[in-house]
Amino acid sequence: MQSINNKPRYYDVIILGASGFTGKYIVREALKFLNIRSSPLKSIALAGRTQSKLFQALQWAHGPNKGPLPDIPILIADASDPSSLAAICSQTSLILNCVGPYRLHGEPIVAACAAYGCDYLDISGEPEFMERMEAKYHDRAVESGALVVSACGFDSVPAELGMMFNSRQWVEPAVVNSVEAYVSLKSKKRIVLNFTTYESTVLGVANAKQLQELRRSRPKKSRLAIPGPPPCKEESTIEHQKKLGLWAVKLHSADTTIVQRTLSTLIEKPDGLPGVNESADAVAKRKLSGHL
Ligand SMILES: NC(=O)c1ccc[n+]([C@@H]2O[C@H](COP(=O)([O-])OP(=O)(O)OC[C@H]3O[C@@H](n4cnc5c(N)ncnc54)[C@H](OP(=O)(O)O)[C@@H]3O)[C@@H](O)[C@H]2O)c1
Repeated sequence: MQSINNKPRYYDVIILGASGFTGKYIVREALKFLNIRSSPLKSIALAGRTQSKLFQALQWAHGPNKGPLPDIPILIADASDPSSLAAICSQTSLILNCVGPYRLHGEPIVAACAAYGCDYLDISGEPEFMERMEAKYHDRAVESGALVVSACGFDSVPAELGMMFNSRQWVEPAVVNSVEAYVSLKSKKRIVLNFTTYESTVLGVANAKQLQELRRSRPKKSRLAIPGPPPCKEESTIEHQKKLGLWAVKLHSADTTIVQRTLSTLIEKPDGLPGVNESADAVAKRKLSGHL
């Protein structure tokens, strides 16, 4: 793979923000894939602003008593330094961005990827960030061939796949009218919310008005025609789900927004969004998975 300035791209993936709470787990999973012969992932590098923290993250991800530390390059890049972002973009086909809150740090990274034709993936759960990036960088990304994909974490992969799985269980003329999702967390350890996730959520709620303004300024998205009466809105924050035998707390997550955006896209493009230089196999897979 060549970068836009025709220098070779050395790494399949660069994990940016690899020293963070989530970044470390992503590195741990990536190392597992690197060790599988049939895996398409052959090379990774870690990137971030603090060399020592990145090294510690690599040590943690590798784990104790597992032999010598793998030879994974560590690159220095700061979200506030565009030249460092340009440098990492020219060395990889894909930046996996774990630097949050995205509304504070994400834009320069999306901008660099869109400019240098480097694919971008993140775990943002911040709708305002995602929609603002689409509004500002879509055209540039199309020109350079960069794919920019957000929300590939707990927000909102389970919701997307859950909705898709659910909707495929119905046999015509029955159709889905509404979907409610419940999450039950179980862990032997104490369940904690990391500070940056908390900060991202607080900033999202505090800036809800900006999202409304952005949406008003953008062309209206297609809406799904939902048959039957509208689902009744559950207003209370705490509810007792007698059928499930559980108490539930309403979660302000990005899931509803993300699933609605996917549905809008599939209404406009029932075969999904075409990629750049897709193989015939990829086209067939996209067409198959696009249909609900
Ligand atoms: N969608 C989901 O399901 C999901 C799940 C978990 C997290 N998240 C989101 O992911 C983001 C990260 O969360 P986290 O808990 O992993 O955060 P974290 O532990 O605070 O880690 C943040 C990372 O970003 C790096 N960073 C901060 N500012 C930077 C800058 N200017 N340039 C380069 N790197 C910088 C930090 O580097 P240093 O080590 O040098 O400080 C650290 O590696 C948050 O926005 C969170 O909401 C989403």
